[in-house]
Parts: sequence; structure tokens; C-alpha cells
Amino acid sequence: MNKKFFVPRGTSDILPDAIPLWEEIESKARKICKSYGYKEIRTPVYEDINLFKRSLGQTSDVVNKQLLELASVKEDEGFALRPEGTASVVRAYIENSLDGREGLSKLFYLGPMFRGERPQKGRLRQFHQIGVEAIGPHSTSPFLDAETIILAVHLLKELGVKDPQLKINSLGSKEDKATISVWLRGEFTTHKQDLCEDCQARFERNVFRVLDCKKEACRKVVTQLVKSLPLSQESRLYFDRVRQTLEGAGIAFEVSPHLVRGLDYYTHTVFEITAAGSLGSQDAVGAGGRYNGLVHELGGNEKIDYGAVGFALGLERILLARSAGVVMPVELDVFVIAMQEEYLSQAFLLLQRLREAGISADMSFAGGSMKSQMGKANKAQARFAMILGEDEVKSQTVALKDMQAGTQEPVAVKDVVDLLKNR
Ligand code: HAM
Repeated sequence: MNKKFFVPRGTSDILPDAIPLWEEIESKARKICKSYGYKEIRTPVYEDINLFKRSLGQTSDVVNKQLLELASVKEDEGFALRPEGTASVVRAYIENSLDGREGLSKLFYLGPMFRGERPQKGRLRQFHQIGVEAIGPHSTSPFLDAETIILAVHLLKELGVKDPQLKINSLGSKEDKATISVWLRGEFTTHKQDLCEDCQARFERNVFRVLDCKKEACRKVVTQLVKSLPLSQESRLYFDRVRQTLEGAGIAFEVSPHLVRGLDYYTHTVFEITAAGSLGSQDAVGAGGRYNGLVHELGGNEKIDYGAVGFALGLERILLARSAGVVMPVELDVFVIAMQEEYLSQAFLLLQRLREAGISADMSFAGGSMKSQMGKANKAQARFAMILGEDEVKSQTVALKDMQAGTQEPVAVKDVVDLLKNR
């Protein structure tokens, strides 16, 4: 026997039984994003590798350890599969001069992302995100941060996540971040040897990440420090407005000074939403924040002051967080049954007429006994069985059986499509 192939580690097939659930999630998500004024954007699944390096930061785990590079055809080209959507959307925003078209571009996307992670439950190498990005000249309003967070929570609830837990924090402006980095390094010098090995490395590369280390030793050093970060008065006021707007909208949240996020582009508001369920340690179902500097970082017009905020939700994690075992039946309007082989071609024509009229229909080309074909109609969750036997063919009718009610009636072949459309 030839060697079998298996799906690559950290990826999975989405089998036909699960597709209705995915379709439902995708269509609900699209509808809700549109109701908040977002329009869909689709960008390539791979980009210039430097786009990710420059946006997410050379020191982030995603760039350092998880970028899945593509073998380049030309020497001076380097591509990587997209690990997230924000960098691509900002690239498309600048490249297509979307800033010239409307004041604020509200864009959403839905699709696969790729990270070379060590796979475990809820942590995949190919996973799907629904994300939104609101980008525009002078678009720095705390209402926009609040609206974005409210949309994330709204989506999660509508997608079946029962009790999403929201944590928020502020990293301050770009200038604040620079000041805080210097300040933190100063504060940590005397404690450097108390930090875990990872954090000693982080101290040099991205000192902010020390703040969210879960290790006991680091927590001890950090707990007091996070309470007194030198955030400017302006950034504090901005964050107050975001909080007040969320409170006013009745959104429950916790301010977590440890929340810093792993991607470099964030400034001001950052947030993360977790959920219980069967997620284990990978319990973040979504995250996001403001990233005002990224448009300039990626070559946007220096004369314009851009604001941007967004988030992404992980669809596989949402599925894990929903109550287990939700299987949506595949539904079919009509299952056509030819009682004898000689009626197969008439049944086949009927099948096509139904489909052309927008009625979903299927049949068994293998024919078989009435019992076995009715079994197939049941398995396909068909609403009606349309039976063609000797009597029906002679009288130019079909026997239409309502599979739930169990009733059956003869209907003229010429009328059957209209009749079904009306039902
Ligand atoms: P992120 O926190 O890296 O942010 O990912 C967002 C969400 O994607 C996570 O909360 C999680 O649900 C899901 N996710 C991430 N990695 C994996 C994985 N390996 N397996 C399964 N699910 C995963 C971003 O991607 C930012 N682009 C969010 C954003 C948009 N910030 C501003 N705009």
C-alpha cells in the first residue's frame, strides 16, 4: 500500500458536517461588522516578509519564532504567510490611498492566519480570525476605542461565547512608551538578577513584555512598578474617557496594568478578551488595541496625523468556548427518488429543474430500493422526498412526501417547482 498523507501539524480539515456552523459564524460576523459601518477587505495570504517585521516588531515572538517564510523564487524577494491581518490592512490602506476617499476607513476581514507555533489545544499553525481595523486621518477619539471594544464583545456574545471577560490597559502615546521603557530599565537594573531567564532577555529587547510575565519571581518585581508607570497626563485623560464610555455603555471590564500585548505597534488602549469553556491556557478569544504610529511606520503620508484601532477574534477558540457538541444539520429541500433504473434520467432532469429554481436538491444515482433511498433522504435531512414510480411516470406526476409530517400527495410534474417555491 502507498504511504498515506496527513494534514500538517497544527492545521485541520473543516469537514462538511462542520461547514454549516462556520457559515453561520461567518455570516453573523459579517452582518454585525456591517451594522457598525465596517466594509469587508480581502488581502493576500502572504506578503513581503519585511512588512511583518517592521509592523509587529523584530523582538516580538510572532516575528522572532513564528513567521512561516515562503521559499523565494528571486534572491531579493522574501515572503511570509500572514500571521495576522493588521499589517496587511494598513499596507492596503496606504497603497490604495484609502485615506483620500473617506474620513475614516472602517475595514473588516475574515480568513486564515499562519503562525509557526508549537501546536496545542486552541493554538494552531493555521487558524482563522475575524478582525476589524478603523484607520483615518485625525481618528483619535476615545469613542472609537470604546466602539471597537463594544463591537468585539457584541460579536463574541452573538457568536455564542457566554461570558466574555474583558481586560483593558493603556500603554500611553509613542512618546510615553519611550519614556516608560527608559524608566522601566532604570527600575529593573537593581532587580535584573531576580527576573526569569526569558525576562532578562526581554529586558534588553522589549522591556514592556516583562510586565505581563506570569512567573512568580517576575510578578513580585513588577506588581508595584505597574501601578506607577510614568504615563503622561494627556494619555491618562484619554484612557479615562475610554473607560467612562465603556461604563456608560454597560460593558463590564477590568483594568489590568499587566496587559501589554505581544505586538510592537500598540499605543494607548490595549485589550484582551478571554472565555471559559474548554480552552485551557489558550483562553484569549480576541485582542486588539490602538496603533496610531503604524501608518507612518509603513510609509503613510508624514504630514497627516493618523489614528487607528482594531482587534481580531480567533474563530477556532470561539468554537471551543461555545458549548460543546453544537452540530448544525445539513439541510436539503428535496431528495429525488427514482423507483426504477429506467426513471433515473427523468429524475435527473427534475433534479436540475429544482436546482435552477433555487431549491436545494439531491438524489442517489445508484438507485436502489425505496427503503434505502428513503434512508438516504432522511440522512440528508431532506424536507421533501419526490418519488417517481411507474404510476407517476404514466400520469406525468410525482409523489411528494413531507418527511416530517409523513404525508404524501401527487403533484403534476409541470406544477411541482412552483408549488415547492411557494412552500
Ligand atoms: P493576537 O492577539 O495575536 O492579535 O490574535 C488575536 C486572536 O487570534 C487571539 O486572541 C486568538 O483568539 C487568535 N489566535 C492568535 N494566535 C492563534 C493561534 N496560534 N491559534 C489559534 N488562535 C490564535 C492580532 O492578531 C492583532 N492583529 C489584533 C489586532 C487587530 N490589533 C489591532 N487590530
